[in-house]
Amino acid sequence: MSSDFPTMKGLMMPSKRGFGSDNNSGVHEDILKALMQVNQNHMPSYGNDEITEKTQAKFRELFGPDTETFFVFNGTAANVLSMKAMTQSFHAIICAETSHLNESECAAPEYFTGCKLIPLPTKDGKITIEQIEGQMRRLGDPHHAQPRVVSITQPTEYGTLYTPQEIKRIADFCHGNNLLLHVDGARIVNAAVALKLSLKELTTDLGIDVLSFGGTKNGLMFGETVVFLRKELAKNFLFLRKQAMQLPSKSRFIAAQFLAYFEDDLYLKIAEHVNSLAQLLAREIKGVPGIEITQKVESNSVFAKIPKEKFNVLREKYFFYVWNEKTYECRWMMTFDTTEEDVRGFATHIRSILRK
Ligand SMILES: Cc1ncc(COP(=O)(O)O)c(C=O)c1O
Repeated sequence: MSSDFPTMKGLMMPSKRGFGSDNNSGVHEDILKALMQVNQNHMPSYGNDEITEKTQAKFRELFGPDTETFFVFNGTAANVLSMKAMTQSFHAIICAETSHLNESECAAPEYFTGCKLIPLPTKDGKITIEQIEGQMRRLGDPHHAQPRVVSITQPTEYGTLYTPQEIKRIADFCHGNNLLLHVDGARIVNAAVALKLSLKELTTDLGIDVLSFGGTKNGLMFGETVVFLRKELAKNFLFLRKQAMQLPSKSRFIAAQFLAYFEDDLYLKIAEHVNSLAQLLAREIKGVPGIEITQKVESNSVFAKIPKEKFNVLREKYFFYVWNEKTYECRWMMTFDTTEEDVRGFATHIRSILRK
């Protein structure tokens, strides 16, 4: 067995660090501690415990008093259940072609809602009002799925950001055209920190209706939330969540993780850390022959094309994914436990391989 794979009580433990995903890291130690702290005594289940209530109050503090929050197990469920709460089966959901909703949820949005997804092409993960407007046709025609939701991702799957003005304009357009606006915010804290806005300023105040708010990619063990920024849309959500098998019985274990995530601004510190490391990597590899940074570096990832023949050797030391198998555009993602040393080591590795 290679020394890369020390065993721990029989478990395979790959020791290679990398830039594959913010899902590849473990759990932030403050969050693990919180899990241990709530792991005592008995408490009511299914969200009727005081930790869940306290965490929901914290969400109201962050997003506004008229918002409502529900925990689910994963991000796909947060997205799909958001869609379910906003649509009927004859509706259409407008999103970016690159969105997680369209690309990486195994048609769960279509399966659970019955809706048609309308994926729009983008260069940078961002859809425009003109594109949305182009879909506002055959309204009232029973032969045509009726547009009802626009879903955008912030930061996008390319790590780019919508400006607050862009979001506000999309929200206003939606509300003027009988559409609702959903944001996939698996990493929205990174966007808020990069834009120097509070969570409320970046969401509720801009007119977003429903938000999938991420936890797992930001240091939690598991747990995501659906945040209804317009409370009336949550009317049937308790039932929808249970039907979709996403009602956590031991809810306190998700709630406690979020509580720890918000305590002492840990959420902001993690976002500042990952965003600044992405900037560092971009600076370190800028101008290296053969490397082309393809997207603006605005949150915690760097996208770059690399020469195909260098892929295997580059990945020998640090793991990462190819984003586009045709162009060898790769994604390098920072996570809460990525260190400056990791980034500098990777940049040195890239430089040494590419300059050979
Ligand atoms: C933008 C985005 N949304 C949602 C998700 C939800 O993922 P999961 O269902 O794997 O928790 C992911 C995961 O990679 C993501 O990147």
